[in-house]
Amino acid sequence: MTTDLLPPLTQNADARTYGSESSQAGGAEAGPLAGSARGLHMITWGCQMNVYDSARMTDVLRPLGYAPVESASDADMIILNTCHIRDRAAEKVFSELGRLRLIKEERKADGRPTVLAVAGCVAQAEGEQILKRAPYVDIVLGPQTYHRLPEMVARAARAGGSVIDTDFPAEQKFDFLPEAAAPQTQGNVTAFLTVQEGCDKFCSFCVVPYTRGAEASRAVASVLAEARRMAESGVREITLLGQNVNAYHGEGPDGRIWGLARLAEALSSIPGLARIRYTTSHPRDMGDDLIAAHRDLPALMPFLHLPVQSGSDTILKAMNRGHTADEYRRLVEKLREARPDIALSSDFIVGHPGETDEDFEATMALIRDVGFALAYSFKYSIRPGTPAAGAPRQVAETVKDERLQALQALLREQQDAFNASVVGLTAPVLFTGRGRKPGQMVGRSPWLQPVHVDGPDTLIGVERPVRLDARFSNSLAGTLVKECAPT
Ligand code: 5AD
Ligand code: SF4
Repeated sequence: MTTDLLPPLTQNADARTYGSESSQAGGAEAGPLAGSARGLHMITWGCQMNVYDSARMTDVLRPLGYAPVESASDADMIILNTCHIRDRAAEKVFSELGRLRLIKEERKADGRPTVLAVAGCVAQAEGEQILKRAPYVDIVLGPQTYHRLPEMVARAARAGGSVIDTDFPAEQKFDFLPEAAAPQTQGNVTAFLTVQEGCDKFCSFCVVPYTRGAEASRAVASVLAEARRMAESGVREITLLGQNVNAYHGEGPDGRIWGLARLAEALSSIPGLARIRYTTSHPRDMGDDLIAAHRDLPALMPFLHLPVQSGSDTILKAMNRGHTADEYRRLVEKLREARPDIALSSDFIVGHPGETDEDFEATMALIRDVGFALAYSFKYSIRPGTPAAGAPRQVAETVKDERLQALQALLREQQDAFNASVVGLTAPVLFTGRGRKPGQMVGRSPWLQPVHVDGPDTLIGVERPVRLDARFSNSLAGTLVKECAPT
């Protein structure tokens, strides 16, 4: 599933930002407006896919004169880009909309009208409801319709009424979005690149197939062109994004369908691109060619987010995951044979309908067998309209709480053990920026850990060997070593 990310080295139900965090996102840094530019205030909740989408919406609105602003009060257009994965998402949207309504009214009293839009998965799922409960919203648009945003802005301005557009269009949205503007990546050493969207897997608990629509892959040439532009602007590490990224099947320049392994190989020959990651993967799509790519492509980082959700075959079946716990174990073995230093990360759900104590124990057993460097765990929460929502034998909240606590304690132990296991190693660190202390730089290990090192600013954008000296709860400290130092 979506997402992930550049996860912090924390692990709890809210570590992942589904619906739990808002952040500024946009194609460029928000700042004061020049000349006649119009202000665009983007509020982004949810996964990295949403962050990426916000940046693309900023891009499509740029030709209309919209530029990002820091404060909603300065904005001629406010977009709330939402997430539906976690519970109470809709309520959170209505409460945020209440706040934005006041700003809109204040601005209106000053003769400065504001276009208010709701985008993303909540918009997709509850569009009609939003317009009914919050009639002051001007535009509701689903994730598949961003390319129509300029037209909708124009229509909303003309009509003075609300516009709703949450259909899945026949055309793929990738064909219609403009090329990402260079500022999206300027100055960044790491960047996300969406290559695939949607999901046809229909896991019992998940809304994504309903909100994000059917699986669609972007054409290879368009991905490579965007990656080249990113590399030229200084990006050294790319994370390929997709709800089911390893199901990628884009049209290649040779007219054939390329899988993710082949795409990664082509990306790895782009000058300047040192590292490639991808997220999120489904175990069923972890083909032998992709496993071999982990063996053959040094640029493919040895860290893989491979959600398993449960270790019980009964629950995996009820979840419609399409594999057993042992098949997952075998997959991990194959990955470790191909790339011995690969670290695994995963998602878990406790309390799926029908989950017994034995089922939960099977999940704990799988965690003990595999050993995860990082994990995100969630209590099952009902998503209306999904098969599990109406399933019998829903699990009591208190039982879910207990299971989540036990599971997170084990995962925290494993995460600490993993971080401890790299102390003493020398590993390549890609430097991404300055640390908090003067003279300190921060970079990223191959296993996604933030690493603090004393060194000059010129390290930014450079990958250098670092001896990992110490670990803290969410990061490591290290020392630069000479390129030829033995490890
Ligand atoms: N309840 C709890 N967790 C969920 N996830 C998705 N849907 C639900 C739900 N209804 C979790 C899964 C998925 C991650 C992104 O969110 O673990 O992999
Ligand atoms: Fe991931 Fe399953 Fe949801 Fe698809 S349906 S996005 S595979 S959890």
